[in-house]
Amino acid sequence: MLTVQDLDASERFYVELLGMEAVRFGEGRRALRFGAQKINLHRAGASVAPHAKQPVPGSADLCLLVAGGEAGWAALRTRLDAAGVRWELGPVARTGASGPLQSLYLRDPDGNLLELSYELELPLPVALELPHELPGGSTLRLAGPDDAAGCQAIYAPIVASSHTSFETEVPSADEFATRIRACVAPHSWLVIEQDGAIVAYAYSCPHRERAAYRIACEASVYVAASARRQGLARVLYEQLLARVRAAGLLRVYAIITLPNPGSIAFHEALGFRPLAHFPEAGRKFDRLWDVGWWGRALA
Ligand SMILES: CC(C)(COP(=O)(O)OP(=O)(O)OC[C@H]1O[C@@H](n2cnc3c(N)ncnc32)[C@H](O)[C@@H]1OP(=O)(O)O)[C@@H](O)C(=O)NCCC(=O)NCCS
Repeated sequence: MLTVQDLDASERFYVELLGMEAVRFGEGRRALRFGAQKINLHRAGASVAPHAKQPVPGSADLCLLVAGGEAGWAALRTRLDAAGVRWELGPVARTGASGPLQSLYLRDPDGNLLELSYELELPLPVALELPHELPGGSTLRLAGPDDAAGCQAIYAPIVASSHTSFETEVPSADEFATRIRACVAPHSWLVIEQDGAIVAYAYSCPHRERAAYRIACEASVYVAASARRQGLARVLYEQLLARVRAAGLLRVYAIITLPNPGSIAFHEALGFRPLAHFPEAGRKFDRLWDVGWWGRALA
């Protein structure tokens, strides 16, 4: 809800300049629609109950994501410029709910502060020559069949005691060797070795079989419980994604069994965005689990 001095002036500002849609409902009530969201407009002194504790004009501070990403934001900026609207601040870099933003700040006719933003894609580093020495003496390199037992040791407890993997039987080390051998271009299987032991691994694989999906891959990463929050998954993913991008792929997806707040936070820190939610998508440990798809562009 926005409390405003002049319903017509506010409606003109939000509809003509910001591209929202004017909505009329109930007995003469007004609202603004944008995407799947709606803001009700209340005239100051005539708020409809229930309402905010102190419904006064000029007290709102809203962050709005502009449709169409950078291009949509640039077009909106041109429109505001042409209408003589002045920025309070920006463009400036900001941190949004799910990643970095580029923002402009301005005020509506009541002095409410509006942050108009688009989400920035995180750039990927270039693919390194492998093997690569990491700070602290560990090595990032391509996996071979001899790494099967090390990867299996990280994965086995996740299969046995967590819903994170939808496998229900722990695959053998031989099965892991087969999977590593099958991971061929444009895909990669990477490991990090510390003091002779594998402590983390990540790999990409085809997303779906049909030909049109060949622009896309899925990525997975597993870090030994004792080696988490040291940046190992980040460096593995940065290199994995740089490699699949260099191989010509355009999209990467992560399929996350829910709940998994650590994996969600990790993927969003690497520029993935939530794309789809599949309720009760699989059964493990005698109960049904939801699955979420996260993804990002590789461009
Ligand atoms: C998810 C997982 C791969 C993260 O590995 P990691 O090496 O600990 O992650 P990193 O140290 O590289 O984290 C990079 C960033 O991701 C985010 N992040 C990672 N783990 C997080 C957690 N548990 N909670 C909140 N944020 C997290 C943080 O932003 C972190 O940056 P910061 O440490 O500077 O704050 C690891 O916890 C894991 O193996 N979990 C079990 C298996 C799994 O869920 N795999 C994913 C399957 S979809």
